[in-house]
Amino acid sequence: MQWRRRRCCTHAAVFYLLSLLGLVVFLVHQAWLPRLSPLHSGVPIIGAGEAHTAKTKWNSSSQHSAWRLLIVAQLNSGVNANLSSHKKESTSFHPGGPRSGNTTATIAEGELDGRISPGPFPYTINEPDKCMQDRQAPFLVLLIATEARQVEARNAIRQTWGNESALPAPGFIRLFLLGKTEGELGILQQRMLVAESQRYHDILQQDFLDSYKNLTIKTLMGMNWVAAHCPQASYVMKTDSDMFVNTEYLVYKLLRPEIKPKKNYFTGNNMRGFGPNRNKNSKWYMPPETYPEDKYPTFCSGTGYVFSGDLASKIYGASLNVPRLHLEDVYVGVCLATLGIEPTPPANAFLFNHWRVSYSSCKYSHLITSHGFQPNELLKYWHHLQNNKHNACVAKGRGGRTRSGMQRGGKFPINFQKS
Ligand SMILES: *[C@@H]1O[C@H](CO)[C@@H](O)[C@H](O)[C@H]1NC(C)=O
Ligand SMILES: *[C@@H]1O[C@H](CO)[C@@H](O)[C@H](O)[C@H]1NC(C)=O
Ligand SMILES: *[C@@H]1O[C@H](CO)[C@@H](O)[C@H](O)[C@H]1NC(C)=O
Ligand SMILES: *[C@@H]1O[C@H](CO)[C@@H](O)[C@H](O)[C@H]1NC(C)=O
Ligand SMILES: *[C@@H]1O[C@H](CO)[C@@H](O)[C@H](O)[C@H]1NC(C)=O
Repeated sequence: MQWRRRRCCTHAAVFYLLSLLGLVVFLVHQAWLPRLSPLHSGVPIIGAGEAHTAKTKWNSSSQHSAWRLLIVAQLNSGVNANLSSHKKESTSFHPGGPRSGNTTATIAEGELDGRISPGPFPYTINEPDKCMQDRQAPFLVLLIATEARQVEARNAIRQTWGNESALPAPGFIRLFLLGKTEGELGILQQRMLVAESQRYHDILQQDFLDSYKNLTIKTLMGMNWVAAHCPQASYVMKTDSDMFVNTEYLVYKLLRPEIKPKKNYFTGNNMRGFGPNRNKNSKWYMPPETYPEDKYPTFCSGTGYVFSGDLASKIYGASLNVPRLHLEDVYVGVCLATLGIEPTPPANAFLFNHWRVSYSSCKYSHLITSHGFQPNELLKYWHHLQNNKHNACVAKGRGGRTRSGMQRGGKFPINFQKS
């Protein structure tokens, strides 16, 4: 009897342990725990407002990895540094980038319309008439940072979230942002890029070296293009080519064509309470000469931010007097701060994700961005979502495993009427 009892308890304990293990596996699978897989180039930030990081071996090669940043201890109201002192000192900074020394040419904000210059780097591929092709100004301009070699990613985007004809009126236009590649490979890629441009008319390129440290130049090219060639666009989104973007949700649920377009509006995954990385051995070292303050203003993760069309020329104009930082999203945040504009927090923390959200049609029909996609994955999930659009949250199979994911925190589904 005694023996039997003990055996039974052992069984119970084993069963208990196995269940626990199962739960852990399930959680990891659901990506509730941060991913360790290099594929997802993990961004070790867990919640938008929370700004947690943990020291593990994430692959941090991603353009918008949070390892670029340092969390500033003080997370309260003082975080959004009043940048006026920064601005005043700015003339004494070493300009962040080559050739940027002469960009301080005086162009006042209001003067930009109509006669904005292309900036220090001339366009090598441009689409000056893209915005005017319809009688109506576009509701949304999508600016997608990409590199010449990422042909597959561009093609996947053209077929999925960047398909201009997939959304009925008022629609959007899609533009890929590129710099130039050096050497033999560069010449070859350039030839292919020109052909691609002639076919799709969705490429913008300026004559700067396409590199991680030049991402800011790339973004400013996009701002410059909107300011010069499409100032009447209602909204602009800047994003990357490894993103999933739910353009339909963005247009119809967040921006809403039926209401008057906002002005001075900027939103995305708000990064609050970060400061420069001062570790000289780090890939993301930020020299105090370039950025002397110990905090960054609130900025939105470069994986995807959205702003009203009027801001393109304002941000571009401000950039002429703000020394370049190579962190594109931080830099745009600094420009906004000098304009006195604070990014609007998103209606909920699940809209703009700069990590990868595990796929379910229900979750993906209620978010705007998710990060870290291969082109084939993009196609697969996009088509699944389109096919399940009208019953995205009905529990069935994999696409409908929703309750757990959607209701953590009890914040879904969200109500946009108030925003
Ligand atoms: C990180 O990922 C990139 C490509 O995404 C790869 O080239 C690189 O080798 C990876 N690094 C590590 C340490 O896994
Ligand atoms: C920033 O500080 C200056 C002077 O210190 C003040 O005049 C200005 O109103 C402040 N701006 C904000 C947005 O707090
Ligand atoms: C800056 O550019 C302007 C014209 O764009 C030129 O006249 C001026 O000499 C340049 N200044 C410097 C310091 O290079
Ligand atoms: C874009 O969407 C339209 C309408 O749904 C479709 O007919 C077209 O084939 C799509 N284009 C691409 C490149 O997939
Ligand atoms: C950025 O582009 C300029 C112009 O092509 C180039 O001279 C510079 O080396 C690039 N900077 C980096 C860090 O790649």
